[in-house]
Amino acid sequence: MTTPAQSKPIFQPNRAFAKEARIKNMCEYNDLQQWAHEDYEGFWGHFAREKLTWSKPFTKVLDESKAPFYRWFDGGELNVSVQCIDRHLDSRKNKAAIIFEGDRGDKQIITYLELYYNVNRFANLLKNEFNVQKGDRVVIYMPMIPEAAYAMLACARIGAIHSIVFGGFSAEALKDRIEDAQAKLVITADGAYRKSKPYMLKNVVDEALSVGAASVQKVLVVQRNFEDVTWVGGRDYSYNELVVSQSPVCEPTPMQSEEPLFLLYTSGSTGKPKGVQHNSAGYILWAQMTMEWVFDVKENDTYWCTADVGWITGHTYIVYGPLAMGATTIMFEGVPTYPDAGRPWKMVEEYKINQFYTAPTAIRVLHKTGENEPAKYDLSSLKVLGTVGEPIDPPAWKWYYEAVGGSKCAIVDTYWQTETGGHVVSPLPGATPIKPACATLPLPGIIGEILDPMTGEKVGAGESGYMCITRPWPSMIRGIWGDPERFVKSYFGDVKQNGKGVYFTGDGANYDEDGYITITGRVDDVINVSGHRMGTAEVEAACKKHPNVAEVAVVGRPHDIKGESIFAYIVLKGEDTMGEEVEMVKEINKVIQKEIGNIALCDDIVFVPGLPKTRSGKIMRRILRSIAKGEAITQDISTLEDPSIVATIEKKVKG
Ligand code: WTA
Repeated sequence: MTTPAQSKPIFQPNRAFAKEARIKNMCEYNDLQQWAHEDYEGFWGHFAREKLTWSKPFTKVLDESKAPFYRWFDGGELNVSVQCIDRHLDSRKNKAAIIFEGDRGDKQIITYLELYYNVNRFANLLKNEFNVQKGDRVVIYMPMIPEAAYAMLACARIGAIHSIVFGGFSAEALKDRIEDAQAKLVITADGAYRKSKPYMLKNVVDEALSVGAASVQKVLVVQRNFEDVTWVGGRDYSYNELVVSQSPVCEPTPMQSEEPLFLLYTSGSTGKPKGVQHNSAGYILWAQMTMEWVFDVKENDTYWCTADVGWITGHTYIVYGPLAMGATTIMFEGVPTYPDAGRPWKMVEEYKINQFYTAPTAIRVLHKTGENEPAKYDLSSLKVLGTVGEPIDPPAWKWYYEAVGGSKCAIVDTYWQTETGGHVVSPLPGATPIKPACATLPLPGIIGEILDPMTGEKVGAGESGYMCITRPWPSMIRGIWGDPERFVKSYFGDVKQNGKGVYFTGDGANYDEDGYITITGRVDDVINVSGHRMGTAEVEAACKKHPNVAEVAVVGRPHDIKGESIFAYIVLKGEDTMGEEVEMVKEINKVIQKEIGNIALCDDIVFVPGLPKTRSGKIMRRILRSIAKGEAITQDISTLEDPSIVATIEKKVKG
């Protein structure tokens, strides 16, 4: 339904869906939000008691005495694997917990009872054979196979802290993350499939361990029968061989609410990736609540999130959230466009999927390469469509809404981050009237506000500001592993209210005339490539490893499919290198591939004689961003050390 008087069209929730939804209308939404505003601790305490299964009840809801090191649900004890498995066994033991579909179409269904045994065996293996203890760090470098979920839950069961490294990261990046976390064990698989072709993972672990990562004592390998896998005696062990003799029963280790559950490395605007730490109770509470509210998954539903477990979306919305609420979650190893752009829709038809959750970059690819594919399949089971990872553009939104959702499904444009643990701004599918490409309103319990960075005051309609969350919430980041100062500085240093730092996301946003929030993207030096976060500092550090690179500045440039692509300005050492530029581009990208992985490759590398710098030597990235976008330069360049460099760079970029 469209209301032409609005500046953006507005679509009301599907009535039949809303009737059955957990939050049925805006009155219910407003009541919840008002409850949270008036009695914040009462609100969260209520849901923590209602949703979680505690082995020892908590005595305090929120401790703000050491802000911003907030503590939730102190005194309480629970185990996250119990939330995700054990407590469902009475009523759901034969329900599918995980449905796996491999790249080549192979399938596997794992019931809650099977999940229980598999996770317990895995946990016993970690404990008995590898001496993994509570608090130890375990790095998981795995493809999208059920064993990745077992490994996460097995760590949770014995109180070990997992740190998943996305399988697309290079040996060097893996090594850095292992070293930062000082992990003692790496869990990997021999290989995986992508577009029916094998790609190997174990050899990347071998390489990482050959150049560093001395804390690692053992490597546990899930074997999928790939050939040519080398084994290091006394270090590498086969999961398949060892797991069979383990007991299928493993007592869960009681975890205090604030004991860590996992680390996940993510890019910031400066320096190396940060080990974002999430703790047990608050994280799992919000993972479950947002699954229930935002996707409104019902008992017999099948839910599919296409992310990879290597990112936060895979953690919260493939594994922890769906399993905590007792849902059926799909794990998909493949890529959405293989063997053709009908693959996801074929899967929706086959599994009768009810909620589908993906990223704008995937939607754009599916739209571009298979505009009419959805019409070839029966997609009538779909009720809720989700998007995450970057701002979605209106044409992609429209196609998703109409061609995929048949104009009857709510689109939940979920805004959140690795650091927020779960969604923070999103429509509720049965309640919130939606607008294209708009994340709409903060979820109940989240005090999300767009603030003026100078005054800390809320901005008015139509004005731009910084997306902030002004009160702590249960699933928020608890720290950066090993670097408390960086934690305070990175998140609570930019925006202040009454002299006190509030959580700043790094994103810009604005309110429309209805108070709806539109996220406009990062305002810091983080680039969002295909929904993956990449810090300019990391890419620059990688480029500098090339012996001929003297100086480099990296910026984001808008890209039709990826949202943003990486654009590097490079000053080479030595004099005339003009003739070798094509070769140099290849070489520099090779270095990036080695240092970070393919996800950080530069689409554009331009060689320039110098960079625009202030007299104090600061690179003016805003100018470089404008040039990359082909925009006119509006900044004052007279204060630059060498103002003429701007015209030279512009000329070079325009070719
Ligand atoms: C961006 C992914 C606009 C944002 C869950 C954020 C979004 C970063 C949206 C976090 C959205 C995520 N609309 N932008 N719906 N969702 N973002 O940590 O810039 O990988 O700061 O977490 O993605 O990326 P991260």
